[in-house]
Amino acid sequence: QFTPRVFSGIQPSGGLTLGNYLGAMKRFVDMQDEGSFQTVYCMVDLHAITAKFQDPATLRHNTRELAAGFIAAGIDPAKSILINQSQVPEHAQLAWIFNCVARMGWMGRMTQWKDKAGKNAEAASLGLFAYPALMAADILIYHATHVPVGEDQKQHLELTRDIATKFNHDYGVDFFPLTEPVIEGAATRVMSLRDGSKKMSKSDPSDASRINLTDDADAIAKKIRKAKTDPDALPSEVEGLKDRPEARNLVNIYAALNDQTVEQVLADVGGQQFGSFKPLLAELAVAKMSPISTRMAELMADTAEIDRILAHGATQAREITAPILKKTYEIVGM
Ligand code: ADP
Ligand code: NA
Repeated sequence: QFTPRVFSGIQPSGGLTLGNYLGAMKRFVDMQDEGSFQTVYCMVDLHAITAKFQDPATLRHNTRELAAGFIAAGIDPAKSILINQSQVPEHAQLAWIFNCVARMGWMGRMTQWKDKAGKNAEAASLGLFAYPALMAADILIYHATHVPVGEDQKQHLELTRDIATKFNHDYGVDFFPLTEPVIEGAATRVMSLRDGSKKMSKSDPSDASRINLTDDADAIAKKIRKAKTDPDALPSEVEGLKDRPEARNLVNIYAALNDQTVEQVLADVGGQQFGSFKPLLAELAVAKMSPISTRMAELMADTAEIDRILAHGATQAREITAPILKKTYEIVGM
């Protein structure tokens, strides 16, 4: 009944890392190229202003930089629909309808709301509270059947399904699909290069803890050489990485970059010391990542071209979203 379609978004909140690439963008590219889904990828700028005030020029810059990152990572605007959320007004329009379907209690139970609003919910924006209804609209305005999600977004996807179910039930229709999660493998959680217990993140104060998508070849190689490890040799079995978070992280990164399983990597490098494994990883990371940073820089030198790509994406997107919003309004009695 529903066209197989994937939707996913990333906030243009500035700074992209190897974690974003391996945990999100590379998966998006794989789904695009695999060909069984129509793919829609989105810079969610409306979400980016929910948590805190964003300087307008910085938000605009970050949105273009994220678009450049998507394209440099392999999102092809001829194969995927690539958009900036605010340029497709049906997202926000459907979100209003969903604000009236979702219940306060549902939103209040979201762990991300509790984490982000903290103890001072009175001072949080109404948008932060309603964020999951906008996310549901992002997905359902495309009748998306599948969403690639990390652990931290699973609860929001459940809520998306609850909203679809309640809408369909309240209006006696079978209009919105129950979107399925596509869960990522454990190997795609990239940890800090300085502390294997922390997620690699743009918000880590130590730049050495992460590989940025804007890092050049020298910076990438240097960060890998300096990555924290332990004195033992690499094991040849996965069990040998237990309680060795830094070692496991570097092997995971190698496997993900090289489209291999951890087992395959260990079959090749088991027994080696980090003194010989790190140069291999550095070489691989430079080979895979430095073309991305070079391409991003080229794209950022011509922001008019990025804007043109996003305008084109918005036009394509609205061919899907406008009829779905129109039908939604009809169902609701508008
Ligand atoms: P958002 O608030 O949009 O989730 P993030 O920058 O935290 O912003 O993440 C964007 C995407 O990148 C998400 O899909 C997230 O799961 C993924 N991601 C971010 N950091 C990592 C990491 N260290 N390992 C794996 N995936 C990551
Ligand atoms: Na996140």
